[in-house]
Amino acid sequence: HINKEITLYGWVDSRRDHGKIIFIDLRDRTGKVQVVFSPDKKKIYELGNKLRTEWVVEIKGVVKARPKSMENPKMPTGKIEIEARGLKILSQALTPPFDLSTDGKDVKEEVRLKYRYLDLRRERLSKNIIYRHKIIKFIRDFLSAHGFVEVETPILTKSTPEGARDYIVPSRLEPGKFYALPQSPQQYKQLLMVAGLERYFQIARCFRDEDTRGDRQPEFTQLDLEMDFPTQEDILGLIENLFKRLIEKIYPEKKIKQYPFPRISYEDAIEKYKSDKPDLRNDKNDPNELAFAFVVGFPLFEFKKEEKKWGAVHHPFTRPKFEKDETIEQLIERIKKDPGKSFADQYDFVLNGCEIGGGSLRIYEPKLLETIFEILGHKKEDIAEKFGHLLKAFKYGVPPHGGIALGLDRIIMILQDEPSIREVIAFPKTGDGKDLMMNAPAEVDEKQLKDLHIKTLKS
Ligand code: AMO
Repeated sequence: HINKEITLYGWVDSRRDHGKIIFIDLRDRTGKVQVVFSPDKKKIYELGNKLRTEWVVEIKGVVKARPKSMENPKMPTGKIEIEARGLKILSQALTPPFDLSTDGKDVKEEVRLKYRYLDLRRERLSKNIIYRHKIIKFIRDFLSAHGFVEVETPILTKSTPEGARDYIVPSRLEPGKFYALPQSPQQYKQLLMVAGLERYFQIARCFRDEDTRGDRQPEFTQLDLEMDFPTQEDILGLIENLFKRLIEKIYPEKKIKQYPFPRISYEDAIEKYKSDKPDLRNDKNDPNELAFAFVVGFPLFEFKKEEKKWGAVHHPFTRPKFEKDETIEQLIERIKKDPGKSFADQYDFVLNGCEIGGGSLRIYEPKLLETIFEILGHKKEDIAEKFGHLLKAFKYGVPPHGGIALGLDRIIMILQDEPSIREVIAFPKTGDGKDLMMNAPAEVDEKQLKDLHIKTLKS
């Protein structure tokens, strides 16, 4: 483009004055370029003299090669500069509450979150968001090429038993009744298998009202998938292949420690590493080492001491492991007799000591599913009311099926070498579940509450 006239739009990143000459670094998502205003173009120069950082401008100018001695090897555009010929100030800016040129680690997180739209201007954050896009795009293309169909499932739905507290939404049309936001699309994806979709995936938003931590948000994103007639290895092999290719394409500098990914039994993991999500890296300080692993062969149930009852280790739809030549009647009898001794066709996906996914083969026999609900302490009427739709659907010809869900935020956090998933989510919530920018949660009008037949108790 040397000697060509071009038009640029962007933000004033910084300004330096050298003698009479004004230098502006103009910034957009893709990078920065130096623009020069010299006094011999009086009108533009005087306008240029008004510019301050973060103002938004349109600049017409001519691309010039810099003299060798003036080149800046640190900047990708360091061999050129733009000689300004025209300038329009499109919007002015207040001084930002913090420096946008750093990685932001020096700024209090509450302030960053309050001004997230500014925080996202910094290179580290915008890079995280752009890589998030690249990863999701890669996943979509990969799974589409492998015969998967992306299906959206409802957000206004009914409680699903993934083990956390539900977020609930009052119904206006049916006073006293509530929707629940999905903790995962688990039951819908199983019903899509009954529907004959064969291979489903979704970049799915999930909602869980639990304590927030560095790797936990009240709303987070899963890569959720399900397929029919799978073996456990079909699912693990697919995920393994997906990640090998994704790393090669998007993170070529990173090395996968072991491929195929090791399959470690739950028992061995606990015995050898004292953890069901072992960190298998050689060097835990090396951000380019990726130690993926599958942990397999989990127990089906765990005894919950506080509630004095059995709970599902994964979720109630998880398939128990059959013993050799065992009939379903024999299996039902065996797990009823000694729930603590049965194992599940369940697997967790682990990366560098973090649980990045989990899934299982599913129960598709209504009577086995009912048995599991009974062991979990649900009453007969309860089962019909909560899971009747699934039990009924399974009576209309259900293919054996199974799947997995991956915590996308956690995966992107690790691949981007970030300490928290908040750094890879555009608008995350604080530890106490607040959106400081929007100021949510917030009170609503009396009228809205009245429409919903809700009265709040004030302490
Ligand atoms: P599970 O509950 O194990 O399985 O969730 C799958 C993965 O989602 C991630 N994850 C989270 N990430 C951020 N914030 C959270 N609060 C959070 N909770 C979970 C984890 C986890 O491994 N329906 C089943 C999957 C299936 O059986 O197919 C499910 O949701 O990385």
